Amino acid sequence: MRRYEGRRVFVTGAGSGIGQGIALRLLDEGAQLVAADIDQPGLEITAAKAGDAADRLRTVQVNIADPDSVRTATSEALEFLGGLDVLVNAAGILRPGRTHEMPLEIWNQTITVNLTGTFLMTQSALPALLESGHGVVVNLSSTAAYQAAPYLAAYAASKGGVAAFTHSIALEYAKQGLRAVNIVPAGITSGITTKSILDQPEGFDPSLFARLTGWLNGGALGTPDDIAGVVAMVASDDGRYMTGTEIRIDGGALM
Ligand SMILES: NC(=O)c1ccc[n+]([C@@H]2O[C@H](COP(=O)([O-])OP(=O)(O)OC[C@H]3O[C@@H](n4cnc5c(N)ncnc54)[C@H](O)[C@@H]3O)[C@@H](O)[C@H]2O)c1
Repeated sequence: MRRYEGRRVFVTGAGSGIGQGIALRLLDEGAQLVAADIDQPGLEITAAKAGDAADRLRTVQVNIADPDSVRTATSEALEFLGGLDVLVNAAGILRPGRTHEMPLEIWNQTITVNLTGTFLMTQSALPALLESGHGVVVNLSSTAAYQAAPYLAAYAASKGGVAAFTHSIALEYAKQGLRAVNIVPAGITSGITTKSILDQPEGFDPSLFARLTGWLNGGALGTPDDIAGVVAMVASDDGRYMTGTEIRIDGGALM
């Protein structure tokens, strides 16, 4: 399928995991794409994996929590792309911990990257997305925002905020042709899940997690490709009647 021929796409968090999977899938479908991340070595891996599509790819280093960095990265992206049809906000962090022990710094960092970063990127890209007449914003929420997730209070709150933010902009700009959709994954193999398993707080009680993974694949974590294929549909013309909604991709974890 080549649903992205002539489509201009900007993906954050594209140096690892889900964002990288989405970037590679959309490149494979013909997109001209800017892959952005704070992690330069991660972006180099993405570029190496792009293979023949590398001439349609630019990588840009960005800290989505820093307004100046977001402005610079967006103008570099728009210069390469010549406009924008799709923004995918996949950059994010997860710092598990007991709520009564959580340093304010970790709470603030989680909200600033996951929620404020999604806002800053979207705000910066909106003029170009609106100019295209059919712009799409795809945001990464999480099942942690929809089902109680112990030790993840800051993360869950940030992802609930992302969901509400997405609904708000979906209505605000619907009459101008913009669509905005929340993607809601459960546990997916990625940098976040590898690190958070190592970071579990002392006394961690796994029985508190009803289900982190789905029933499919024998209960194993999903993969970035499981998310990328759905995002490719949602942000293409195949998803043209979808906005202000969630797509849960969790192997049935929340059913
Ligand atoms: N993996 C899961 O189980 C899961 C489940 C639900 C939602 N999500 C969401 O999916 C998105 C992608 O995460 P992932 O699982 O692929 O993890 P990941 O760690 O593999 O990828 C996240 C990427 O975001 C980048 N990043 C972090 N802070 C940044 C910043 N300030 N500016 C720019 N880039 C930054 C990281 O460098 C990394 O490359 C996140 O928003 C995450 O919350 C993941």
